[in-house]
Amino acid sequence: MTDQKLRLDRLLANMGYGSRKDIQALVKHGRITLDGHAVTEADMHVVAAPDLSARLRIAGEALDPPPGVIVMLHKPLGVTCSHKEAGPLVYDLLPLRWRARKPAISSVGRLDKETSGLLLMTDDGALLHRIIAPKSNVTKRYRATLARPLSGKEADVLASGTLMLDGETKPLLPVVMSIERDRDGETIVEVTLSEGRYHQVRRMFAALGNHVTALHRVAIGKLLLPPDLAAGKLRPLQDSELRAIFL
Ligand code: URA
Repeated sequence: MTDQKLRLDRLLANMGYGSRKDIQALVKHGRITLDGHAVTEADMHVVAAPDLSARLRIAGEALDPPPGVIVMLHKPLGVTCSHKEAGPLVYDLLPLRWRARKPAISSVGRLDKETSGLLLMTDDGALLHRIIAPKSNVTKRYRATLARPLSGKEADVLASGTLMLDGETKPLLPVVMSIERDRDGETIVEVTLSEGRYHQVRRMFAALGNHVTALHRVAIGKLLLPPDLAAGKLRPLQDSELRAIFL
């Protein structure tokens, strides 16, 4: 997270509150307050620390999270993480003002259009790279619904670190699998991955002779998707939640 001293008008313009001229007009009309006092100079310097949201009010509203924000989104089915794919984007789920922020908010890795669950988004490039860097060893846990019952060999093959995906030359790193249900025509497993290859979970079960019919990400590291975060909703991470990613 950045704790830089920045010019107020530049900071607010970069956070999507309008042009620097718009910010100057808000100051002129006494619409921006810091610690309860009207700001008189649009070019005053402020520290862009997380507590600024509680201290600075714009037209009576608390400031959005300052730069260095990281949010969790409960990604619904049917939205894409990439501008290259057709269909609505995860970025369309951000509040309008957040979509105009500089630096922009990006997804931390990707989920397929037909995968739901926990997706992190941040404007902090260094943090993003720390989460996805292989040396950070941040695991990802998915719940997969399978089309066919298990053969009984899947957990051992996945744990062996020898499974090869179609078209690849390096076997997968070991994957931990646990069975949530495998009866009455319903097969649901959880898998924990230490890497993130393209469509990995779907291709992994294809290599095992099965087929994923539904896929949901439940955790990144020890950070769980909170049960009260409905599909399509997002909220900033608390410090303890950020730490849980790296546990
Ligand atoms: N594996 C997949 O197949 N899809 C995802 O979205 C994530 C992991």
